[in-house]
Amino acid sequence: MTSTIESSTYRQILGHYPTGICAITAIQENGTPTAMIVGSFTSVSLDPPLVAFLPSKTSSSWKKIEGCSGFCVNVLADEQEDLCRTLSSKDPEKFKDVPHHLSKSGTPILDGALAWIDCKFHDIHEAGDHYIAIGEVRELDIHHSGTPLLFHKGAYGKISPLL
Ligand SMILES: Cc1cc2nc3c(=O)[nH]c(=O)nc-3n(C[C@H](O)[C@H](O)[C@H](O)COP(=O)(O)O)c2cc1C
Repeated sequence: MTSTIESSTYRQILGHYPTGICAITAIQENGTPTAMIVGSFTSVSLDPPLVAFLPSKTSSSWKKIEGCSGFCVNVLADEQEDLCRTLSSKDPEKFKDVPHHLSKSGTPILDGALAWIDCKFHDIHEAGDHYIAIGEVRELDIHHSGTPLLFHKGAYGKISPLL
């Protein structure tokens, strides 16, 4: 069934809901690291520990990540807007100069990320023009102190405490 809702209206209204921003990173079979930026990351379950994000069916970065044995969720800090712009580009070489080290399972942990969550793939569901990719958490930790990068109404922002 074709939707009667204009995509611009959908984006504009849904943009009122703020999100954090994560870089999903993985190592391909040939050893090359890859990444995509998502605002759709969420925790799912504590027992078992599951998290999820929603990659677009048209994403070329997702096509590389889904072939990997696992992935790492990197929670970006508000100082990482430039890194976010780099990793959300369509440049296949976008990860070339990004400083990182590898988790025990071999997924990339980005320098400067606030926290990281290493996962193996648990399930992938179809949902319209996206997938729901669910990961089972293998290892996780806090990485750097700081405050998160946010996305709201199409713009980047940061936390401003009310007090
Ligand atoms: C703030 C922000 C949030 C995003 N969230 C998602 C997301 O949840 N799912 C998704 O598939 N793409 C998302 N994107 C788009 C991808 O990061 C990226 O632009 C795209 O994957 C690059 O295209 P490619 O994967 O075809 O190379 C987001 C981009 C930005 C800047």
